[in-house]
Amino acid sequence: GHADDSNYQETYRNQFHYSANKNWINDPNGLVQLDGVYHMFYQHNPYGNEWGNMSWGHATSTDLIHWKEQPIAIPEAENSPWVDFWFKTKDDTKPVHYIGTPTTNWDGGHPNGKKYIFSGSIIVDKENKAGFGKNALLAYYTSTYQVAVRDDDTSKDPLGNYLGLREIQEQCLAYSTDGGKTFTKYKGSEPIIPVTAVPNEQTGNFRDPKVVYDDEHKVWAMTVVTGQEVDIYTSTNLIDWKYQSNILRKHDVGNGVWECPELIPMTVSGTKEKKWVLSLSVQNGAPAGGSGMQYFVGDFDGKAFHPETSETMKNPKWLDYGEDFYAGITFSNVPDRTIMLGWMSNWSYVGEQHTSPWKGEMTLPRELTLKKVAHQDYQLIQEPVKEINNLSNKVVQLGNKKVKAINETKVNKVTNYQGQHYRLSAEFSWKEKTMPTQLGFNLRESKDGSKKVVVGYNPKTQTAYIDRTKDGENISRNSTKVKLDSDQKKIKLTVYVDSSSIEVFINDGEKVLTQVMYPNPDQPSDSNGLSYFVSNGEVKMKHASVTKLNS
Ligand code: FRU
Repeated sequence: GHADDSNYQETYRNQFHYSANKNWINDPNGLVQLDGVYHMFYQHNPYGNEWGNMSWGHATSTDLIHWKEQPIAIPEAENSPWVDFWFKTKDDTKPVHYIGTPTTNWDGGHPNGKKYIFSGSIIVDKENKAGFGKNALLAYYTSTYQVAVRDDDTSKDPLGNYLGLREIQEQCLAYSTDGGKTFTKYKGSEPIIPVTAVPNEQTGNFRDPKVVYDDEHKVWAMTVVTGQEVDIYTSTNLIDWKYQSNILRKHDVGNGVWECPELIPMTVSGTKEKKWVLSLSVQNGAPAGGSGMQYFVGDFDGKAFHPETSETMKNPKWLDYGEDFYAGITFSNVPDRTIMLGWMSNWSYVGEQHTSPWKGEMTLPRELTLKKVAHQDYQLIQEPVKEINNLSNKVVQLGNKKVKAINETKVNKVTNYQGQHYRLSAEFSWKEKTMPTQLGFNLRESKDGSKKVVVGYNPKTQTAYIDRTKDGENISRNSTKVKLDSDQKKIKLTVYVDSSSIEVFINDGEKVLTQVMYPNPDQPSDSNGLSYFVSNGEVKMKHASVTKLNS
């Protein structure tokens, strides 16, 4: 599934980001390394270019950059047993009777009676704790289906008091003993954590198990969301899971349902201090609108997550300020590195991505480090994995330039580089007295200069941004922006540009903006131009270069 394949040449087909050859993908699932091979599984519709028939697709790589698509790893589940159980929440006075044949009857989906394989994670069972074999891959996923619901049990007619369809989500296990090629569903698709374990009424929002080993307390921990709550389960045999604790929402930013939670063990850069980062995806309310990812720093005691301070949960930090970084999780079994990648999209406008015959792509894999920024305050630093350099061949130096643009805007065309796939990097600095109002780059510019995507910085407001309003699309697009924490009279921009995406890493990964884009839809090939600009001030541009990124 990469530009290695000769058929990855369609308009807007990304060349150094993963997309499936054909059909829909969303979240990365089960990211894991085994015997030097990186496995990426993902939410996939094997039969269509829209969400549905959810199964785990599969791709492999030896360098995290070149991916090869593999056959479907975990197809949607066939079996549809009759269900009949009472659902009762902790404080529920009126339990509800769930009874009937599971039907998958989604709006816009296919009513095929199957159980969908939703997001989850994989670990390597090195010590054969589960008994499937040494180094078996254990895949934890959510089984999702719908059932008929009744409110009592008195009628003989099982569907007599039919209340409608209700969504059920349960945590299941599948294992692979052939290095990820094929998976066997443990006990069919009988759950290892059934829906009756949901502590609240969120039977249809109980999903996305991510499993991690807690080295210090010698226990496996699983995070699962239930609505706007993260529940933590632990296990020592990887099959039986015990509910231990929960984390509740304490803030009013990002008010969507929580998805894809994870506890990430990290060592604070330059120290031996251990911290745990709780990351999660919120379906709406993110800074750029729609869905996005939050994180919180604290400690884990083997049973519960303890936020760093009483304020931590009230002030979520965001992983990315663009519209398109979602459902990110980290690779399991990669010692000493924390590598995360996400789905490069947003649930709020995913239908408007007019790519065919595929839809959806992954972000670049990022290496995460944790930096201490103040007493009891930590921040994730994110940079593309160093393996991205495997793609670079040609580097074009733009030289050190001083640009003076007093009371005007100066635009300088880059004449020695043209293209759509590259990394652009530059440091800009200025003095207080001649501080510009804008600086940055015009990317993917049409020959006549009328269509472009702008990556810029406003030193007065300390705001970095991606502006897509002039890219030629007839859909009005948001500009996305982020305010930097301090004014240093300089900024470093590192920008990864692909056929239909842009990732801006600011000041070596302090802040990130990730955005899909569809420049100049009338004539996409006429978008190879590049220029830099300065408005109303004077800047020095240093270490500026364009690196062509091959496939
Ligand atoms: C996140 C998500 C998950 C779910 C999956 C379904 O994007 O909604 O919560 O498991 O996608 O495809």
